[in-house]
Amino acid sequence: MNVINPAGWRPAMGENVPGTPVQTFTGNRALQLEEALLFELGSADRSGVDFPATDTLDLAGLGPMARSDIPDLPGLSEPETVRHYTRLSRQNYAIDLGLFPLGSCTMKHNPRLDEKVARMPGFADVHPLQPVQTVQGALGVINELAQWLIELTGMHGVAMSPKAGAHGELCGLLCIRAALEAKGDPRDVILVPESAHGTNPATAAFAGFKVENIPATDEGRVDTAALIARLGPDVAGVMITNPNTCGLFERDLKVIADAVHAAGGYVYCDGANFNAIVGRVRPGDLGVDAMHINLHKTFSTPHGGGGPGSGPVVLSEALAPFGPLPFTARQADGSIRLIEEEQAHEDHPQAFGRMCAFHGQMGMFTRALAYILSHGADGLRQVSGDAVLNANYVLRSLDDVLDAPFGNAGHCMHEALFSDDGFAEGFSTLDLAKGLIDEGYHPMTVYFPLVVHGAMLVEPTETESKAGIDQFIGAMRSLAQRARAGDELLKSAPHLAPRRRLDETLAARRPRLVYREG
Ligand SMILES: Cc1ncc(COP(=O)(O)O)c(C=O)c1O
Repeated sequence: MNVINPAGWRPAMGENVPGTPVQTFTGNRALQLEEALLFELGSADRSGVDFPATDTLDLAGLGPMARSDIPDLPGLSEPETVRHYTRLSRQNYAIDLGLFPLGSCTMKHNPRLDEKVARMPGFADVHPLQPVQTVQGALGVINELAQWLIELTGMHGVAMSPKAGAHGELCGLLCIRAALEAKGDPRDVILVPESAHGTNPATAAFAGFKVENIPATDEGRVDTAALIARLGPDVAGVMITNPNTCGLFERDLKVIADAVHAAGGYVYCDGANFNAIVGRVRPGDLGVDAMHINLHKTFSTPHGGGGPGSGPVVLSEALAPFGPLPFTARQADGSIRLIEEEQAHEDHPQAFGRMCAFHGQMGMFTRALAYILSHGADGLRQVSGDAVLNANYVLRSLDDVLDAPFGNAGHCMHEALFSDDGFAEGFSTLDLAKGLIDEGYHPMTVYFPLVVHGAMLVEPTETESKAGIDQFIGAMRSLAQRARAGDELLKSAPHLAPRRRLDETLAARRPRLVYREG
C-alpha cells in the first residue's frame, strides 16, 4: 500500500502481522511508531530557534566565507526534534527495557547511583590538561580505583589508560614485548587456545607476534598437554581467556602458567569475564602476568552504542616496570602525583610509551569506583556468585529442549552455551534468535564461540530477578520447541517488530549510508 499523507509521513514499510488484516494509515503498530528521516520531516520554514535577521548582522568580516545560499538543513521545531529522537530511541532495545541476554558482551544494569556520581560537575567537567593541583579529586578517583583493581586481582601494578578490552590486550602484549626486548630475547610466538576470545589472536597479530592456535578439549577447555608440548625458546607467551568463551573456568591456568614461566614466556589472561570470578579468584595467585579488566562488563559501566569502554590492565611484578604512562602515585603528604614523561625518566625508565593521549576514561573510572564502593568486597563476591547462579539456572532450565554441548563439563560460569543440534531440518540458530525479537527480547549472542555449531551464548547477569529469568526461559523453551517441531512461521520471524527479517549479508556488504531523496 502506498500512501501519501499530508503530515509528510513515509508510507508504511512494514508488513501486516500474519493473521491480522490491519494495515494502518501511518504504518504505526499501536505504540510502535514509524519514523521518517529528519530530512523528510523537516522543512525550511520551521526552526527550533530564533535567528537574528541577516540584514542586522555585519558579515563583512567573513569575506568570501559568507554564505550566499541557505544551507539545505532540515528545519524542525523543538518538540518535533525531541519527538524524532525519542521515537528512534523507542525502536532500540535497552538494558533499561528488559533482560539483555547477550553472552560475552555482558549487558548489565547500570546503577543510577553511579550515573549520578559520574555527572557531578567536579568529575564531569574536568579537563585532562588542567594543572595537577586543580584535579586532585579526579586523580584520587583514578588512584583509588587502581588500588582496588590491584587488590581484587592480586597483581602488582595497573595501567589505567587503555580504552577498551582489546586496547588492554594490546597494552599487555606491548608490556611483554618491552620485557623481552629489555632482556634481548627475540621470542615472537604467542599461543592462543581455541577457547580464547576472538580479539586475542587479532591483537597478538596486530602487536607483531606470530600467532599459533592451541586446540580445545571435548569439554570446551584449553588442551593443556598440547599447549605445554608446544612451549619452547620461540614462545613469547600465551593468551588465555578465563573464564573462557564457552563460559567455562580454565582450571589448569596455574599449571599452564608455571610451565610457560619455566619455558621463559609470559602469561596474558583475557579478564573481560572477570565478573564471574571477582571476589573469589585472584589471577595473580594463578601466575598471570598481565590481564585486562573490562570495566564495562565487570564494574557495570555503560556498554551500549559501541562505548565508551575502559580496559585497565593489571600487571605482575615482572611486567609492571614496562607499563605505559601516565600513572598516578600517592605521595607522603597525601597528594597525588601524575607520572608523565618528565618524571618517568627517573622513576619509571622502562615504560614502553603511552596507549593514548591522556589518562583513560574518566567517566568510566568514576562509575566503576562508585560501583565498587557501593558493593564493598563482600558485595562484589556476591555479584559473581549471583551471575554464575543465574547462568546455571538458565543452562539447567533449558538443557532438555536445547543441546548444551559442554553441559557435562560441570557448572558453567557467567554464561550458558547452547547449539542448534536437534532443530528440525532447515531450522537454524538465526530463526530462534529472530523469534526472540517477537517475544520482546534482544537476541542472545549467536554463532559465537566458533567451536560450537550454531552457538547461542546467553548471559543473564546478576541483577535479573528469578521472575524475570523465568519469563525469558519460558520464551526460550517455546522457541526451542518450535524450532525442533519445524514451525514454518519461525523461519520468517520477526513478525511483530518495526521491520521484518532483514538480509544481513546485504546490510553488511552494501549498506546504504547516504540519504538520497525519493
Ligand atoms: C572475553 C572478551 N575479551 C575481549 C573483549 C573485547 O573487549 P572490548 O569490546 O572492550 O574491546 C570482549 C568483549 O566483550 C570479551 O568478551
